[in-house]
Amino acid sequence: MWDAVGKSVFEDQRTLSFDYVPQKLMHREAQMKKLIMLFRPVLDTNFAQNAVLVGSVGTGKTATSKRFCMDLKEYGEKHQKAIDWAIVNCRQRNSESSVILQVVNHFQPNFPDRGFSIAEMLRILRKDLEKRKVHLVIVLDEADVLLKKAGSDLIYKLTRFGEEKVDGREFISLILISQKNVLEMLDSASASTFKRTNLIEFGKYSYEELKDIVAQRASLAFRDGAIGDDGVDLVAEVAAEWGDARFAIEILEKAGMLADEEGAEEISVEHVRGAKAEAYSSITESKLAPLDRHQKLTLLAIARSSKGKAFVTTRDVESAYKIACEERDEKARAHTAFWGLMKDLDTLGVVSAKKSGPGISGKTTVIKLLDIPAKVLEQKITQMLDDEV
Ligand SMILES: Nc1ncnc2c1ncn2[C@@H]1O[C@H](COP(=O)(O)OP(=O)(O)O)[C@@H](O)[C@H]1O
Ligand SMILES: [Mg+2]
Repeated sequence: MWDAVGKSVFEDQRTLSFDYVPQKLMHREAQMKKLIMLFRPVLDTNFAQNAVLVGSVGTGKTATSKRFCMDLKEYGEKHQKAIDWAIVNCRQRNSESSVILQVVNHFQPNFPDRGFSIAEMLRILRKDLEKRKVHLVIVLDEADVLLKKAGSDLIYKLTRFGEEKVDGREFISLILISQKNVLEMLDSASASTFKRTNLIEFGKYSYEELKDIVAQRASLAFRDGAIGDDGVDLVAEVAAEWGDARFAIEILEKAGMLADEEGAEEISVEHVRGAKAEAYSSITESKLAPLDRHQKLTLLAIARSSKGKAFVTTRDVESAYKIACEERDEKARAHTAFWGLMKDLDTLGVVSAKKSGPGISGKTTVIKLLDIPAKVLEQKITQMLDDEV
């Protein structure tokens, strides 16, 4: 039985898992360099530092922050500076106390998960840091979710907390990660500690960049010769529509699994096409899941009015949005807020909204669905809205 199943194209499939962090992140040298420059004072003078990483899904924000923190810690060890780091995903931990609890758990894995206030947990964290004489870099991933839910109070406390010195050193630095610019979401007190220059942007990957990312990961994950250049190119081409490395890696893994299922020695372009078809529906879902109700209603309106059209205008969408709200007994947002919803969808990479376009006069905004067929999108969103109530 085991022998009959045949050889696998995989050499090390774990390198395709979402939490694997490669030694080197391709085409993120500029972002990495900026982080190093920002955090040099932490090593040299024990000053705290803060940074904000912004970019759409799959642009390598999480992976870059982890690689950076691991390298920083290692560099610190070589230079007798105790540096540690902790990352919290604020979508999974979306209250202030569960965020700070996870940080406390970094030093005390068995710390009770209830019964302590935020102030108490901060004090406990401080004691742990004093005892260890360590500088902690806290990475708040998907920080916008926390900010939206709970405001910037905890972030403010952590930045202030970082500025208080112990033995002449500051001991907490913060890295905030978000798809949107979180600086706009911070209150003025916290925003002033996050200076403008500390914003590090992550652009979508180009086809050429994705090719390198895919080739790097393929060489780690597959046996030699298991995927050819044409296979790598096609994966990159498919993912380039989104500029999303996560999608590329997902397709790579699925293509390998399809090849294994067939008992093929090599991954062919047909396997890649099959993987695209499968991944398609799951990537759509993962992009849509974080949307709030009115963002979903706006997207439903875009899907409905886009059927059979290359693009639609704000006016088309706004009237379809009002109808969609009416159908579900929701109060439609006023024009400016509605405009904000469309901008959110653009930022999240679900649609593209650009001022004017070919064959259109004046200053209209042109909205295009990215790669998701309007009908499929309409069905998915309707389903999600139905499930919510
Ligand atoms: N520049 C890169 N080089 C190699 N792998 C990358 C690169 N950027 C992203 N990846 C990989 O793509 C996937 C998605 O990256 P991630 O950091 O989670 O994106 P984001 O946090 O921006 O959504 C991860 O598996 C990551 O390792
Ligand atoms: Mg991420």
